[in-house]
Amino acid sequence: MSTPVILITGAAGGLGRAIAKRFSQSRWRVTATDVDKAGLHALNTAVPLDFSATADLRSASNCQELIAETLVATGRLDAVVNAAGVWREGPVESFTEEDFDQVLGVNLKAAFYMSQAAIPHLKESRGCIVNIASDAGRQAYRGSAAYCASKAALVMLSKTLALELAEHGVRVNAVSPGDIATPMLDYQAERYGKGNPNAYKRELLSLYPQGREARFLRPEEVAELVWYLCQPEAEAITGADLAIDFGLSAGK
Ligand SMILES: NC(=O)c1ccc[n+]([C@@H]2O[C@H](COP(=O)([O-])OP(=O)(O)OC[C@H]3O[C@@H](n4cnc5c(N)ncnc54)[C@H](O)[C@@H]3O)[C@@H](O)[C@H]2O)c1
Repeated sequence: MSTPVILITGAAGGLGRAIAKRFSQSRWRVTATDVDKAGLHALNTAVPLDFSATADLRSASNCQELIAETLVATGRLDAVVNAAGVWREGPVESFTEEDFDQVLGVNLKAAFYMSQAAIPHLKESRGCIVNIASDAGRQAYRGSAAYCASKAALVMLSKTLALELAEHGVRVNAVSPGDIATPMLDYQAERYGKGNPNAYKRELLSLYPQGREARFLRPEEVAELVWYLCQPEAEAITGADLAIDFGLSAGK
């Protein structure tokens, strides 16, 4: 078999970058996309990329074009990781339509249309899809309805796709991390921390069952799980929502 190819969305972000590095280390051919041109360029200097392109994935036609261009560059596609995501918070009562469309557009619609465009190629390679959801898709948090709803829907999209594609040997799973030390977490704390980002972060950590030992995930820890899910050894895992959150979503 020729060298497998992965396509990572949100590849300029903290998690996307770690996933790109993980697969590159194991000699997969890595292709990457993000709306952040400078971030994608920086990734390209750190990880050898077979193909990269900037795209706003909230548009179905952009997703189709991106998959088509990737296939022209690589000739095959074995895994798609939908890691692009955005965080917006605020009570439903005052949540703007713009923020709602942004959250649902990136966190759900982009994964839906990226998957749709990738399906024919994944059927050929008997490949897989990994959708990055969140602990916030497994339990509700006051003040983040749009984000929680987008991630819960992403898990259900993953399960539905897993059923539709199982007979073609294509596996689809969701990975639901707790808080990861990435630019998204910094953005959350800066924008919504009421002038005290460290207090915002401490409050997040106070929710973990580890108490004083609680810490944020490193992106590399999540990347390792994504790596495993894309290996033949994970053949039995499809339609799953795998929590990697120190037990945060296990219950109170
Ligand atoms: N950081 C956390 O605490 C955390 C926790 C659970 C789940 N997640 C999820 O993990 C995934 C990766 O997040 P991260 O922590 O690396 O965040 P990040 O902000 O570092 O990366 C997200 C990337 O998505 C890209 N993106 C945003 N809008 C886009 C668009 N319209 N089209 C294409 N790309 C777009 C951004 O440019 C960014 O590079 C996200 O889906 C996020 O919801 C993150």
